[in-house]
Amino acid sequence: MNLLSSEKRVLSGMRPTGPLHIGHLFGALANWKKLQDSHYDCFYMIADWHALSTEYKNPGEIKNNVFEIALDFLSCGLDPEKSVIFIQSMIKEHAELNLILSMIVPVPWLERNPVYKEQIQELSEKDLTTYGFLGYPVLQAADILIYHARYVPIGIDQLPHLELTREIARRFNFLYGQYFPEPKELLTETPKVPGIDGRKMSKSYGNAIFLKDSEEEIASKIARMFTDPKRIYRKDPGHPDECPVFAYRKLVSNHWQDVKQECLSAKIGCVDCKKQMAEELNHYLIPVREKRKILEKNPEQVWEILKKGQRKAQSVAQQTMENVRKLVGLEL
Ligand code: TRP
Repeated sequence: MNLLSSEKRVLSGMRPTGPLHIGHLFGALANWKKLQDSHYDCFYMIADWHALSTEYKNPGEIKNNVFEIALDFLSCGLDPEKSVIFIQSMIKEHAELNLILSMIVPVPWLERNPVYKEQIQELSEKDLTTYGFLGYPVLQAADILIYHARYVPIGIDQLPHLELTREIARRFNFLYGQYFPEPKELLTETPKVPGIDGRKMSKSYGNAIFLKDSEEEIASKIARMFTDPKRIYRKDPGHPDECPVFAYRKLVSNHWQDVKQECLSAKIGCVDCKKQMAEELNHYLIPVREKRKILEKNPEQVWEILKKGQRKAQSVAQQTMENVRKLVGLEL
């Protein structure tokens, strides 16, 4: 089989900077699972080198997080029999392709990257004036191109990186001969999942509901959740489309249309609505929790899965690198 000619190849990755929350589940993992179950040829990666680009002062945390994310991936239904699940740094070929691509990427392409500019400002407590952080999208391009991925499921925030990946592929193809296919994004349909305070869910805002939270933790977080800011009294009609609790109920409740009517007509109050939602979310997470419990007790099994992923990913990556060395004229 030609490992590089897969028309249905998908690649995506997540940075192991902390445990995953339900924003990741509804915003990304559910979609990754859907692709896996619709016969796409999926590669899902834990991008630990990318995590190092911002966490280089505390790299010890990355290793723990890698394992936690592997548990999150598997407990949410990513299936190692169907998808290749692997750790970026176990495939050294990504680093070699990153190096070769770095020779042909003009620095201004990286300096004008809006994600770069935004992150430097937002994460001002970190010193991100490094070479590696500027080159973050080059490594990401290497991740994608090395598997000849045709599709990359990502959120809107990552679009500039995918555009750069296409530009880098075009430049490589122009200089050394047509080789890399240009990948397309698959944007996730689910809108941003709000955090318990109504802002975007993020670990750094302290407003996240984690996949590994217990039932009690989830119930207490939801009890504290912000609701419709315009609904002052119990008898006031609600505005479900502006309420973070309703955003969740749409995701986890199978009778959310009724809930909407009940809210609009003030039949249900926010306290009861939150109680129902906590139950629904906990119910939704039952299989995830059960799977996680089993895997937590069998860390060797998780590492075995990651090693199997490494073998599969590496056989593709090695083939690409042999071709790349030939095309560039550095084959020894
Ligand atoms: N930059 C991505 C993010 O922060 C993570 C990532 C690394 C990625 N390599 C990738 C995503 C390749 C898609 C494809 O979310």
